[in-house]
Amino acid sequence: MHSNNTIMPTYGRLPLSFVKGEGAWLWSDDGEKYLDALSGIAVCGLGHSHPAVTATICEQAGTLLHTSNLYGIPKQQELADKLCKISGMENMFFSNSGAEANEAAIKLARLHGHNKGIDSPSIIVAKHSFHGRTLATLSATGSRKVQAGFEPLVSGFIRAPYDDIDALKDIAANSKNIAAIMVEPVQGEGGVRIPSADYLSEVRELCDREGWLMILDEVQTGMGRTGKWFGFQHSTIKPDVMTLAKALGNGVPIGACLAQGEAATLFKPGMHGSTFGGNPLVCSVALTVIKTIEEDNLLQRAEELGEYIHKGLAELLQDNSTVLSIRNRGLMVGIELDRPCSELVQIALNNKLLINVTADSVVRLLPPLILSDEEAQQIIETVAKIINEFTTK
Ligand SMILES: Cc1ncc(COP(=O)(O)O)c(C=O)c1O
Repeated sequence: MHSNNTIMPTYGRLPLSFVKGEGAWLWSDDGEKYLDALSGIAVCGLGHSHPAVTATICEQAGTLLHTSNLYGIPKQQELADKLCKISGMENMFFSNSGAEANEAAIKLARLHGHNKGIDSPSIIVAKHSFHGRTLATLSATGSRKVQAGFEPLVSGFIRAPYDDIDALKDIAANSKNIAAIMVEPVQGEGGVRIPSADYLSEVRELCDREGWLMILDEVQTGMGRTGKWFGFQHSTIKPDVMTLAKALGNGVPIGACLAQGEAATLFKPGMHGSTFGGNPLVCSVALTVIKTIEEDNLLQRAEELGEYIHKGLAELLQDNSTVLSIRNRGLMVGIELDRPCSELVQIALNNKLLINVTADSVVRLLPPLILSDEEAQQIIETVAKIINEFTTK
């Protein structure tokens, strides 16, 4: 890509631009072909230019793009009904991004707190979490890098270690102004951190006991990424509030904040809104995404591919003592090294592969759910090769 100072430099961009995509493959503007093991950071679960998605976009664009939430939107209603069916939640608000979905969740938590008579309600959030870049969501995010320079932060967040139920119990014993807890079922940006098997059910139990809302940020884990529709479905519990975005639209901007129980009764007309949120275009695409995942059995496929990739990497990296852990939940895969390894992103590109490094030392793979066995094998071999070379140089 050519340097372009008409765009604010909020991203440290790689010197590469893509102009075309098909399935798990991307083509750069100089005609080179790359295997995509990142899916636009867990967005394009169905890969690029999926024919069903393309057809839906064309058809809906020729029918109706946008009206307003001042009127009924049949596709939005259809999508809400479908999302309720697959999640067990009761209702939802549609946004345009993950951060906005979380803003809605944070507002629900505050309403819940005020209803309980708490003047200044707080939400417990986790260390190493990521919830977005708006002021409230960056305040909720557990990373100083994300927050620095934007003080004063939004107040009302209390931080606790992730996957540590005793820390939450301590807070419960010592604070009277908690309204909710918000966590990711698997921390994505935090380094593909998978909590212990009973963590979510213990959080659920504590929330029930204390009258807190349990909010799950499923922006990255949702829509099949982990081998179930939603990350919480690996456990037996259900949250009060869940947020989605990313793969819900496979590349068109849509997010959602879903609620059940008391949380589903909190918003009243005029309390929240969005001009674009849930318009006919994005909702018809999301309906197609769900239909395709169902018809092509992609939840099971994500589970199987995840195991296959984990096993393949474990085999090829077994003699590499710098690899501290290989972990996955479905197609959310992390390989933790004993050293910072952000150079691996460029080394992978030199090998025509897109990957990501997060939390300094964790190679993160988020390939599309439509990956073939051969493509999965190619990812395994390339990733193992570059890690082995990088750590022995
Ligand atoms: C868990 C989680 N929550 C929220 C967000 C923010 O989503 P968006 O960038 O769509 O605002 C992200 C983005 O990476 C995420 O991973």
